[in-house]
Amino acid sequence: MPAVTSRVLKRSDPPSASAPILQLSAAASRADWIAAYEAVRTETERRTAPLSAEDQLVQSMPDASPIKWHRAHVTWFFEQFLLVPHAANYRVFDERFPFLFNSYYVSAGPRYERPRRGLITRPDVETVTAYRQHVDAAVRALITAADNELFATLCPILEIGLHHEQQHQELMLTDILHAFAQNPVLPAYDSGWRWPVTAGTACAFAELAEGVHTIGHDGDGFSYDNEGPAHRVLVGPVRIARRLVTNGDWMRFMADGGYETPTLWLSDGWTAVQAEGWKAPGYWREVDGAWFRLTFGGLGPVDPDLPVCHISYYEADAFARWAGKHLPSEAEWEVAARSGMLDDAFGHVWQWTRSAYLPYPGYRAAPGALGEYNGKFMVNQMVLRGSSLATPGGHARYSYRNFFYPQARWQFTGLRLVDHP
Ligand SMILES: [Fe+2]
Repeated sequence: MPAVTSRVLKRSDPPSASAPILQLSAAASRADWIAAYEAVRTETERRTAPLSAEDQLVQSMPDASPIKWHRAHVTWFFEQFLLVPHAANYRVFDERFPFLFNSYYVSAGPRYERPRRGLITRPDVETVTAYRQHVDAAVRALITAADNELFATLCPILEIGLHHEQQHQELMLTDILHAFAQNPVLPAYDSGWRWPVTAGTACAFAELAEGVHTIGHDGDGFSYDNEGPAHRVLVGPVRIARRLVTNGDWMRFMADGGYETPTLWLSDGWTAVQAEGWKAPGYWREVDGAWFRLTFGGLGPVDPDLPVCHISYYEADAFARWAGKHLPSEAEWEVAARSGMLDDAFGHVWQWTRSAYLPYPGYRAAPGALGEYNGKFMVNQMVLRGSSLATPGGHARYSYRNFFYPQARWQFTGLRLVDHP
C-alpha cells in the first residue's frame, strides 16, 4: 500500500485540496520515501506555476519572502542537512547559495539579511529551478544507494525536510497574497478560486467538563519537537464554540465601534490599531459603502457566512472581549478538537489561542542546527491551532502548534470563542 497519495485536481480547487498527502510509517520503503519527496517537491512547483518571474522576486514586507527565495531555501535545507553531510562526492550546486538561502540557522553559517531578500535578482528563476533539479537528482541517488544503516540515518532528516517544505508552501501563498494586496490592480492568483465549503453550523457551544487530559504529540507519526513532551493538564469546565467567528460577526463588531473603543483592547493592541490605522480585517476594502476582500480569486464581496480571516491576535482578543467571551487556551482547543466538538477546526483559518508560545514541561531542543527549528522562538509569540486553507494536505494534526507575533495578520488567521461558566 503506497504511503503517499498524490491527488491532481483542478487549479480552481483550494490550494490545500490538491496538495500531496504526506503519511509515512516507520516501515516506509525507499520507493515510498522517493515518492513522498517527489510529491512534496512537485507541490511547491504547482503553487509556483501561476506566478511570473516578477511575481517570484517581490518582497512586500520584511516578514514576507520572495517565492523564488522560498523555492531555493527549501532546496538549500536538503543540500545543507542531508546531502553535504551524508552524500559522498556530492557537488554543491553553487558555493554562494548557502549565504543567500540560509534563513535563521546560526549553526549553519552566516546568512543574508532577511528584509533584503527581494533584492536578490540573481540567481534568476531558471537557475533556481536548475538548483532544485540538481538537488532532487542527488537526493534520489542518495536514497537509492544508501546502505541500511545510512538509510535509517537519512529518514528523519528527509522527513523534517519534507514537513519544512510544506510549511514554506503555505508561506508562499500567504506571502504572494500580501504582495498582490499592495498592487493597485489587485491581481488574482487563480481567478476560479473559491473559499472551501464550511460546516455552516449555528453558533452553538459544546460543554467540556472539568477533567485532566493529556495534550501534546503521543509519539505516533511525525511531529515537531515543540509538540512534546505530551503531558497532563487540567481543562474546563468550559463551553467552546463549535463554529468559527464569521465575517458577519465581525461586521457587527465593526458597526458597534469595535475599532474605535479603547477599553476593548490590550494596551499594545490599541497602540497597533492607532499605528496601523486598522478599521477592518486585512485585505478588506470598502467600495461605495460595501465591504470587499482580496482572496486568491481576486477582489470579491465579503460573504458574512464565511470565517473571518487575516486578523491579528490583538483583534481576536478585542473581539472576544466585545462578545463577553474569551479565546480558548491551546489545551482547551486540543481537548475539544480531539473530542470532535469543533467544526472547521482544519482547512479554513488558523485559530488564535490565549496561550503564549512556551515550551511544554520538560521540553529540550535537540542539539545542532536542527535544534534551532522551534525552541529559540519560544518568547513573545502566541499559539495558533488547527490549519488554514493554504496548509498542504496531511500537514496538520491535533497537537500542531503554530505561532506568530500578536500583531501579525498576513497569515490565514481567525478565531473561535469560549465561555467559562
Ligand atoms: Fe525554513
